[in-house]
Amino acid sequence: MSENRRILSGMRSTNPKLHIGNYEGALRNWVELQESGHEMFCMVADWHALTTMQGNSGEAGYNAREVAKDFVAAGIDPARSAVFIQSHVKEHAELHLLLSMITPLGWLERNPTYKEKQGEVGGVEREPYGLLGYPVLQTADILLYRPLGVPVGRDQAPHLEIGNDIGQRFNRLFEVEIFGPYKYLIPADENRAKVPGLDMRKMSKSYDNCIYLTDTPDETAEKIKSAFTTPSKLRKTDPGIPEGCAVCQYLKIYSPFWETQWSEDIAGERGCMQNKKELTEIINEYFRPMRERRAALSDGDIEDILISGADKARAVASETMSMVRKAMGLY
Ligand code: TRP
Repeated sequence: MSENRRILSGMRSTNPKLHIGNYEGALRNWVELQESGHEMFCMVADWHALTTMQGNSGEAGYNAREVAKDFVAAGIDPARSAVFIQSHVKEHAELHLLLSMITPLGWLERNPTYKEKQGEVGGVEREPYGLLGYPVLQTADILLYRPLGVPVGRDQAPHLEIGNDIGQRFNRLFEVEIFGPYKYLIPADENRAKVPGLDMRKMSKSYDNCIYLTDTPDETAEKIKSAFTTPSKLRKTDPGIPEGCAVCQYLKIYSPFWETQWSEDIAGERGCMQNKKELTEIINEYFRPMRERRAALSDGDIEDILISGADKARAVASETMSMVRKAMGLY
């Protein structure tokens, strides 16, 4: 048997636009894995997006396609990697259902992400069943591809653990060896993976503090102009505190000269305006190729990419389902 080089990862399409935090925290890692010769399955998790949409999901299909465009813009090459939408490969639903029969409720109730989201959607009467089952669906997403590894941000670790536990439990209960344990591939550079928002809180659409992959150079410049810096640095000569300054944090990620920029900022030898100006140029240059690729992608292009991506995904997923059904005695 050839060496397993398969990698599966996914991103929820809660919003149509991905931000640079999504890029640094996940997509960048996917592209690197693709470049090092892995067989990539890059999934837009549109069903997972429904868990918190409470009925307001009229834009689900649009959002999913826009997110898929951002995958390609970021450097996922559809000729080498499968780019697909979860709901286009129905095997995900079937495996989710079957795995739900062997997943202990306690594992799901203990999940920290579940406890967090529970509060957001309201009381028990409003809490959807899908939210509790979220990790089971995610496990189905992963196990269908029997991957070598799953690249995700650190926040996803609890879900990945449940996934391996479910896979091993399946093997044990049905006395098969269908699911080998997969690796969690967390980005090595944790600082870079956690780009702060423009206001130094977590980068999130709900805080309106994002730089999006699709922002124009001018929009980016405007956003950086109003980004949070050292509050007590009113003049150039006042000392800066780069650890708490969004502009300095971005310089650390994107600027090859950040160490000089930081020490001058601290010493009161450079002002916030200069930092912002230099950062704007560097960031716009960094994201230029992605923005160009994005602008060149038509709706028709992405439709073709998603059809062939779903075909590639289905080829592996249907093989796994045959094994699973057989193991469970379903025919
Ligand atoms: N839960 C992931 C997130 O919120 C998205 C996701 C869905 C996923 N299915 C997956 C990630 C499978 C990795 C593997 O980002």
